[in-house]
Amino acid sequence: MNEQSLTVREAIIGRRSIKKFNGQPVDRADLLKIIDDAVWAPNHQNREPWRLVVACGKELFQLYDLLRDTTIPEWKTLPEEEVEKRMQKFTTAGGYVFVIVPEDPRQKERLEDFGAASAFIQNMMLLAWDYGIGSCWKTPVFLDAPNFREALGVKPGERIVGMVQFGYFDELPKGKERKKSDEIVTIFGTKEDKEEE
Ligand SMILES: Cc1cc2nc3c(=O)[nH]c(=O)nc-3n(C[C@H](O)[C@H](O)[C@H](O)COP(=O)(O)O)c2cc1C
Repeated sequence: MNEQSLTVREAIIGRRSIKKFNGQPVDRADLLKIIDDAVWAPNHQNREPWRLVVACGKELFQLYDLLRDTTIPEWKTLPEEEVEKRMQKFTTAGGYVFVIVPEDPRQKERLEDFGAASAFIQNMMLLAWDYGIGSCWKTPVFLDAPNFREALGVKPGERIVGMVQFGYFDELPKGKERKKSDEIVTIFGTKEDKEEE
């Protein structure tokens, strides 16, 4: 871990989703430290509506097998190098956190819990960034696949809201420019039609 102590602003603006990791392992203690700090995310009624399945270190191999079986069901018929190549997007990450939330039957609570889990995930990503660890929040369709849910121990009434990959990287991707406040803000009480001004 490479402690950087970025300002909050530096971390928010400088963090990029890392989609190409370099294969360097992530230390379990670092990942757990990140999680222990990320739990300070805002969450309504202090429900702390998240639970996590973590893979880091030796259990990664079992996870890779699951990801291979789930995403390349025909893998046995393919050349080994082809399977390896297709699996690289999974095998180069050094740690995984699957974030699971309850699917509250009440719409308001469900939305709040998803919002809180999103804040939790952003906290993890910013804390990791401060340690020089990249991350990417991913929502592949297989997160809802019955076999995948079962393998992760996801219960009925729960949903995996994200697979967050962590790892080290060699290249910093360039971020896409964001809209500025004048494009997304309407000052309360004013008309949106700017052409008439
Ligand atoms: C809810 C959510 C789901 C995402 N799912 C994926 C995904 O499935 N695959 C992926 O490559 N990136 C995924 N991303 C990452 C976005 O592509 C990334 O945040 C976006 O390109 C902005 O880049 P930045 O995070 O570097 O600013 C997801 C991000 C969010 C917030």
